[in-house]
Amino acid sequence: MAKKIIIIEASPRENGNSTILARQVAAGARCFGTEVETVHLHGMDIRPCTACDACQVSLAADCIIDDDMKAVYSRLRAADAIVYATPIYWFTVSGQIKLFMDRCFALTYLGTPPATDSDEPVETVETDLGGKKLGVVLTYGDVDPFASGAVNAIRTFQDMARFVGSEVVGFVYGSAQGPGEVAGNDDLMKQAFNLGRALATEA
Ligand SMILES: Cc1cc2nc3c(=O)[nH]c(=O)nc-3n(C[C@H](O)[C@H](O)[C@H](O)COP(=O)(O)O)c2cc1C
Repeated sequence: MAKKIIIIEASPRENGNSTILARQVAAGARCFGTEVETVHLHGMDIRPCTACDACQVSLAADCIIDDDMKAVYSRLRAADAIVYATPIYWFTVSGQIKLFMDRCFALTYLGTPPATDSDEPVETVETDLGGKKLGVVLTYGDVDPFASGAVNAIRTFQDMARFVGSEVVGFVYGSAQGPGEVAGNDDLMKQAFNLGRALATEA
């Protein structure tokens, strides 16, 4: 059966740089027989997590917020690999993808925490995201990944992957300012295509 990759695009711009790279990832993956679907977050009704904990009754418990995330959960569960593509805003990921990531809490179940005076180890988190391969695409205006804040976003995705037990197959990140500018960066476009290939062949 063909592998499935879901790409989460988080730029609000038509012809966004991160979106262009995400589409290169898709092209690379499709060349190697992978089914690719895309979720373009901007314009979707995705509300913030309210920390109601309704999703923390069990792993099977769904988020109770009735918005566009409802249809995305099953698509995330079915995917072998997830690609997150976001511009850097204010030294980290865009607001669009942060809302999305917070709502992915519903795909994890933390279990009952041991009493504070207990010596019991904390249970490993149960999650529907575990075992999936991840790819990350970041674009930013500054020329330096540290000054731009891209490193903060990289750290966020690394921590998230560790927490849910998934493996980051690759990061593609680079500088581009105006919409579409990244298309002229042959090296980044190639890296993005190769990330798609790696996800298709390793996922
Ligand atoms: C609200 C806003 C905040 C931004 N913050 C940063 C930043 O902190 N660091 C940076 O290097 N670039 C920043 N940028 C520039 C974008 O990251 C850059 O233009 C990027 O290529 C946009 O990607 P996109 O075309 O996929 O939307 C910001 C742009 C906007 C609109």
